[in-house]
Amino acid sequence: MPYKDMREFLDVLEKDGQLKHIDTPIKVEHGDNELQALMRLLCQDDGPALILTNLEGYNRPDVPLIFNPFGTRERTAMTIDCKGPLDSKKKHAAVLSDPSIWHDPVVVEKDKAPCKEVIIKKEDISLDKDLPHVWFGKEAASYITGAVGITHDPETGARNVGCYRMTQLWNAVHPQGEEYPEEHQKKHLSVFAFWNPPMSHIGLHLAKATAMGKPLEVAFACQCDPAIHIAGGTGLPFGQDEFQFAGGLKGAPVELVQCETVDLQVPATAEYIIEGVFIPESETTIGNHSNPVGYYDSIQVFPRIEVTCITHRKNPMWYATMEMIPPFDHNYQALLPVECEVLSDLQRKIPEVQDVVVTPNMTYIVQLSVDGARKPHAEFGKYILHAVWGSAGRWGRCAKILIVVGPDVDPYDMDSIEWAIATRVQPAEDTIINESGQAFVLDPSATKGHHGFPVTGSQIGIDATMKVPERFESYQEVSMPTQEEVDAIAEKLKGKL
Ligand SMILES: Cc1cc2nc3c(=O)[nH]c(=O)nc-3n(C[C@H](O)[C@H](O)[C@H](O)COP(=O)(O)O)c2cc1C
Repeated sequence: MPYKDMREFLDVLEKDGQLKHIDTPIKVEHGDNELQALMRLLCQDDGPALILTNLEGYNRPDVPLIFNPFGTRERTAMTIDCKGPLDSKKKHAAVLSDPSIWHDPVVVEKDKAPCKEVIIKKEDISLDKDLPHVWFGKEAASYITGAVGITHDPETGARNVGCYRMTQLWNAVHPQGEEYPEEHQKKHLSVFAFWNPPMSHIGLHLAKATAMGKPLEVAFACQCDPAIHIAGGTGLPFGQDEFQFAGGLKGAPVELVQCETVDLQVPATAEYIIEGVFIPESETTIGNHSNPVGYYDSIQVFPRIEVTCITHRKNPMWYATMEMIPPFDHNYQALLPVECEVLSDLQRKIPEVQDVVVTPNMTYIVQLSVDGARKPHAEFGKYILHAVWGSAGRWGRCAKILIVVGPDVDPYDMDSIEWAIATRVQPAEDTIINESGQAFVLDPSATKGHHGFPVTGSQIGIDATMKVPERFESYQEVSMPTQEEVDAIAEKLKGKL
C-alpha cells in the first residue's frame, strides 16, 4: 500500500515498534545542542525513529521534530513498501529500468491539498519564525536537509526533482567573520545547487537560466511521502521526471498541486512548501557544514533564492538530520538510490550480478550469483570492476573502493568481505588501480580541481572471486556449518547457555 504522506509512514513505523515519542528536554540551540550526540547514540545501534516534542532553544515549540526515520536499512526499505534491503533494491532497480511502469502525477485542487492549509505571503515572510531552526554539532547554520527541490528546464520545460539541502542564514555564523544582511537572514535561503559534479540537475537548470538571462523559479517540498524523497535522491537521466518515477515506486500517481507564486507543482501532502526564485549571480559563503564523509566543510559558496511564499499544514511537522562520520540517519536513504543506479544498469547486461551494496563509508561491493568454474569466463571479476566504473548514472564512476565477491560472501558483513579478500585475492594479480577515476566530490584525500573541489582521483578494484579457472582447477572446500545447523543446536541448548 503506497503512503499518502510522511505521517502514514510514521504511523506504520510506530505500529511496528520502530518509532517513539520523546518529551525529555533536548537542547537544539546554536552552539549548545544535543542532536548530534543523539543521532550518534541512535545510529550506532540501529535505534528507533523519534518524534521530539520538547526542544530547548527551539524557535517553533509548536512544531514536533521527526528524528532518525531512515536510520536503518530495514526502515529505508519500508519507505517503498518493502521488507528488507535486497527486496527494496530489486524493486527500485526494476522500476528504474522500466519507465513504462511509471505513473504520470495527477494535479488536485488547492482545497484538497493539506500543504495549503496555511499560506504566508511574500511580504509577511520572516524566516526567523516561519521555518523551524535546529542546530547540530559545530555547524554554523541551521540546514534544511529533508526537502526535494523542483525546477523546470528553462529551455525544454522538463521537470527535475532532487534532494538538495539549503542553508538558513538566520542567526548563522559567517565563516569569514562577516554578518549576513538582515534581508538575507529573513527572506533568503542559500541552496546547495552545485554539489555532485558533473553537476546536479538543479545546477544545470540554473546554469541554463543564467546563460539565457532568465530567472529560475524553484519550490522545495519538505517531509513528503518518503517514496518521493527516495525518487528525488535517485539520479535519473537528465530530462526525466522523478515524480513519474516516484509514481512507479508507489504503484500509484503522486498527487501534486499548483504553487501560489511560481509556475510549478508540488506534492499536495507535504508538510511545508517553500517557493522562491534564484537571485541571478548571487553567491553566499557558508560553513561549517558537516558532510557525509565525516568532516566539516569550513567554506562553500552557493547561490541564494528569494522566498516568495511559504505554505504549510495547520499542525505541521519538521524533520532535521545531519551528516558526520557514518552511520547517520539518512545515509541509507541516500545509499539505496546509489546502489540501485549501479544495480539496474549492471543487471540489464550482466545477469550474474545479484546485489550491489554501498556501505555508509562508500565502499562498493558487487555480489555475483556464481563463482569459480561457474563464472562465465576467466577474469570475470575484473570485467565487473570495469562495468561498475563505466555504469550509467552518477555514482558507479565514483566507486573509489570496489570489491567483487561470490554468492557465499555476505556483502553486508565486513568480516565476510575481509575473509574473501584474505583468502581469494593476490594483490598484484587481482586488483586494478584506476589512475583516472572520478573522485567523490567530498573526498578530502583527492586533489582539488580548478573550481575548488575534487573531480578526479584514483580508485582500487578488488576481484575477490575464487581464481578458478584463472590459477586453479578447483578451490578448497569452505569450512562452515549451515545456519540451519547453528539454529538447531541453539534450539537444543535453549536456556542453558
Ligand atoms: C538527504 C539528502 C540530501 C542531499 N543533499 C544534496 C545536496 O545538498 N546537493 C546535491 O547536489 N545533492 C544532494 N543529495 C544527492 C542528490 O539528491 C542525488 O544525487 C540526486 O540524484 C540529485 O538529483 P539530480 O540527479 O536530479 O540532480 C542529497 C541526497 C539526500 C538523500
